[in-house]
Amino acid sequence: MKGSPCCTGECSDLNGSIEGIEDTIKNGHTALMPAHQADFGGAFKTNQVDDLVQYVLSLGGKPVNKEAQARGSELFKGEAGCVACHGDSGKGSAKDTTGGQPVEKSIGAPNLADGIWLYGGDEKSVRLSIAKGRSGLMPAWNAGTEGVNRKLSPLAIKQVAVYVHSLGGGQ
Ligand code: HEC
Repeated sequence: MKGSPCCTGECSDLNGSIEGIEDTIKNGHTALMPAHQADFGGAFKTNQVDDLVQYVLSLGGKPVNKEAQARGSELFKGEAGCVACHGDSGKGSAKDTTGGQPVEKSIGAPNLADGIWLYGGDEKSVRLSIAKGRSGLMPAWNAGTEGVNRKLSPLAIKQVAVYVHSLGGGQ
């Protein structure tokens, strides 16, 4: 990450390094999953969203409708552009690549293939995530953060970051 704005503390980076984790705890992070269904401001029809749902469920190893899955896979990698954030294999912005390039980590798009869900991995929840979008917020914990009663000193933030890093997946 040498030379990136993250090294100078100018970005909120979910990159799994101690500094990246520290920055996320200090400044918080918003993760935006855009709406994809036309009724909610997206560009896709209900039946196309159905196909995407079947594809995403298949990434998590669930039994799905094969024809819908194939159409969904094409959309995911093509027109719908899901790969730009979730990566070519849907493994998320932290570790996946798209078109041979690493995905921008700060997008914070989760791994869709590990069976771990922020909003639920059942058909209805996955459908809602894709159709209406999601907007997760990790609050800021910096002592100086305005309007919130959260006070973690720089040392405490560092200690929590080292602990989170030790939980695994860190770089
Ligand atoms: C602009 C980047 C971006 C694009 C494009 C995008 N996503 Fe997402 N997606 C995200 C982010 C960020 C989250 C996490 C949101 C949060 O934390 O609230 C997310 C969350 C999700 C979730 C919920 C996962 C969970 O763990 O509950 C699903 C399902 C999903 N996306 C599927 C898709 C599909 C299918 C497409 C293409 C139609 C797509 N995404 C396109 C960024 C994106």
